Amino acid sequence: MRVSFADLDLTGTGSLVALVGNGGALSASATKLNERTKGAVRRAMKASRFKGAARKTLTILAPSGIKAERIVLVGTGKVADLDALAAQDIGGAVAGALAGAGDTTVAIAIDPVKGSGLSAAEFAANAAYGALLRGYRFDKYRTREKAEDKPTLKSVVVMTRDPAAARKLYAPMAKVAGGVFLTRDLVSEPANVLYPASFADRARGLAKLGVKIQVLDRKQIEKLGMGALLGVAQGSVREARVVALRWNGAPRARDKRPIAFVGKGVTFDTGGISIKPAGGMEDMKWDMGGAGVVTGLMHALAARKAKVNAVGVIGLVENMPSAAAQRPGDVVTTMSGQTIEVINTDAEGRLVLADVLWWCQTRFKPHTMIDLATLTGAIIVSLGHHHGGLFANNDELADRLIAAGKATGETLWRQPLDDAYDEQVRSQIADMKNIGGRDAGSITAAKILQRFVKDDVAWAHLDIAGVTWSSRDKPTVPKGGTAFGVRLLDRLVADAYEG
Ligand code: BES
Ligand code: MN
Ligand code: ZN
Repeated sequence: MRVSFADLDLTGTGSLVALVGNGGALSASATKLNERTKGAVRRAMKASRFKGAARKTLTILAPSGIKAERIVLVGTGKVADLDALAAQDIGGAVAGALAGAGDTTVAIAIDPVKGSGLSAAEFAANAAYGALLRGYRFDKYRTREKAEDKPTLKSVVVMTRDPAAARKLYAPMAKVAGGVFLTRDLVSEPANVLYPASFADRARGLAKLGVKIQVLDRKQIEKLGMGALLGVAQGSVREARVVALRWNGAPRARDKRPIAFVGKGVTFDTGGISIKPAGGMEDMKWDMGGAGVVTGLMHALAARKAKVNAVGVIGLVENMPSAAAQRPGDVVTTMSGQTIEVINTDAEGRLVLADVLWWCQTRFKPHTMIDLATLTGAIIVSLGHHHGGLFANNDELADRLIAAGKATGETLWRQPLDDAYDEQVRSQIADMKNIGGRDAGSITAAKILQRFVKDDVAWAHLDIAGVTWSSRDKPTVPKGGTAFGVRLLDRLVADAYEG
């Protein structure tokens, strides 16, 4: 989607969008359009149920009295609710409504809304950002799509009183969107195309942004002693990789210790010998969602030249059943020296993370470490698809994450980490077993991860199993890979770790 800014002008052809407030209050542009069309705007509103509610649209085709072939009214909702996120939703709702409507260009008249707390430029920039985010589509494997089924919308012009200021505010948002799109691409790729080595190759692409990249191959991973990660990988012909991405943007030397982001990158999770049922197993191509977010986030931070030292570490494996696969009952030794009895080979994410979390801390000495993983089905049972699960050993970090989630619409809900849950993963022969039974499945998984986190590191774990893929279109997120976590963590860095 091409996005640009211009002065307010209602004389063009194509699709014209104007705002309507709650209860049907016409914006300045909607009023002008109503006058020029001799009342068609008002009549259309009367004939429909459109009342200016947030994100709702109404299309008026072939209006007389103006050059435009189409007027689209979009609701702004209550003034008190009109914040940056609502503005993004407005842009996204317009892009969604017009995606396949026929026009290639749409011009959106963003009149300032009195009392909203958003400046004209902020409103315009956020609307543009929302339209850009909604315009994403993963269509590289569609070779026979008919022209009449293809989306038509290619370009959005956001019209505002202050296009120069809006353009300036929008620039870093577009960089973050680049990271979101990279993550969505990675999450959408099938596992025959995206496997550990090819994922690592894609990560190497971040070099052009100034990111330093280190790729560990199987031999190096063996040498480091990552027995838990390698146990998961051993059933697959695709060899494991561990990738570190470093962005050093902090201006002062005393800021040297980085913030670290760690991602689960299971490029396909069959469950291994504890194999999953066939129905829905194709979803497990996105079991690398955590690694996808870490990669997209590092892209975003580097692209907008964030003033922070950040490191991203991803553990890449494929979990397959085969003659070489690990068995239930196997005991593996992690890089930390702790041993794990593998009761269920489908609880593999925690095995991968146990080793990459440990390596991340010993290698990069982060002050703060945040991991993301499509870790448990149980988090979907507890939170559904509306919040990511948050676990943290540090209240300040947890609060910052919750705030960044609210600001970006990628919301988190905190879960407990009491030591009482440790009892469930006691093993008869090893330091722990890798599953703790049905009860509190997401918490016992998080408790296992915590055993590989040093006490002096502020740590948070985001279980994103329920939010990595969406089966419904949302205003700024088309159905498919969501990239949940990129905007959230970019915001966390911007608000709490830059400068
Ligand atoms: N990748 C899955 C978790 C998952 C499930 C992600 C559904 C997205 C959607 C994970 O590796 C897994 O299989 N977890 C098991 C753990 C169990 C064996 C203790 C689960 O949640 O069933
Ligand atoms: Mn699994
Ligand atoms: Zn998994």
